[in-house]
Amino acid sequence: MNFNEIENLEEQFQVATYAKMNIAVETGKGCWVETSEGEKYLDLYGGHAVCATGHSHPHVVRAIREQAEKVLFYSNLVYSEIRAKAAKKLVGIAPESITKAFFCNSGTEANENAMRMARFATKREKVITFSGGFHGRSADSISATFLGNYRNLGKPNVPGHVCAEFGNLESVRELADRETAAIMLEPIQSMAGVTEASPEFFRGLREICNEHNIVLIFDEVQTGIGRTGNWFFSGSELAGYIEADIITLAKSLGSGVPVGACLVNDCVAEVIKINDLGTTFGGGMLAMAAVGATLEAIEADKMRENITEIETYLRERLKEIEEVVEVHGKGGLLGIEFSENCKPIHQKLLENKIITGTSSNPKVLRLLPPLCVKKEEIDLLIAALI
Ligand SMILES: Cc1ncc(COP(=O)(O)O)c(C=O)c1O
Repeated sequence: MNFNEIENLEEQFQVATYAKMNIAVETGKGCWVETSEGEKYLDLYGGHAVCATGHSHPHVVRAIREQAEKVLFYSNLVYSEIRAKAAKKLVGIAPESITKAFFCNSGTEANENAMRMARFATKREKVITFSGGFHGRSADSISATFLGNYRNLGKPNVPGHVCAEFGNLESVRELADRETAAIMLEPIQSMAGVTEASPEFFRGLREICNEHNIVLIFDEVQTGIGRTGNWFFSGSELAGYIEADIITLAKSLGSGVPVGACLVNDCVAEVIKINDLGTTFGGGMLAMAAVGATLEAIEADKMRENITEIETYLRERLKEIEEVVEVHGKGGLLGIEFSENCKPIHQKLLENKIITGTSSNPKVLRLLPPLCVKKEEIDLLIAALI
């Protein structure tokens, strides 16, 4: 089918979701996708921040294929070697205090379960989240999302959600009390325009949580799985070396196979009893094969080291672009701030066959490339921006 036929068919039979780019992707390899018209695009948005290992990494594809031939699925009603190994590997690379994983299917579901676990653990209901944060579109997660108009889209909202100002500890202190179950945040606010906070802010949050026995949740749906050059934001120098009680994951975790997870410490894990949580598909064998292989590929190809080098290179090269006023973020989660609205730049890049992302800050263009992106590919971006 050609592009027009595909477009017409989708528009006829699919409910509206995002504003789409005018391309139909057919194949992908590394940082590149090929369209129905046989055109190659450089994907610096990594398939919507998902394809950290690059498109269709051969090791991940092989693992999925091999698993599919054995058994596609059985739920957590049975034990499974591939699940056991994926959980061990994930917990093994997580910050020291993390001891267990709960698998689900998406980012919003990971956040819903994280908040539920925090409520179980504290027997309280209030959840503090932040201005500019995005946590997903199911009922509890959208109610925790104070970015833009999302809470209105999610009406009626789940009660008990209050909003503090990102980066402002005083605003958190005013809200945190013995009724608060959790403080949840994106440690780098991606959709808001790749907004950062200082290590002191994270240390302060940890202190507030310790003081009131509040569960600290890092939504690492975007920052997790090597994106910043660290496996996780939690526990890293970026967080002032403090650790969250729960880390939520999705996006990069399965290289494109839908999977989410909550990583939890002992204090949280020990209150969760059989039947408190459940999901039919979470922890299915196909997804678990993808998780294990994703982590192995990132390790084997030294992608975390690569993305750290790429960040330095990109920041240096962006100095050549007059209109760039600042570069936000870390590793492969970068927000390029321009002096003016960046929508025309996003469009011009697309015309040059380079995919990037916008954000809710009209001046900030977002890059979330595969972690295996090469310097030559960054050169193509710079050439198109000059
Ligand atoms: C930080 C963050 N949390 C949660 C989500 C929701 O994830 P999902 O779309 O997989 O439900 C997203 C999605 O963009 C996200 O960026």
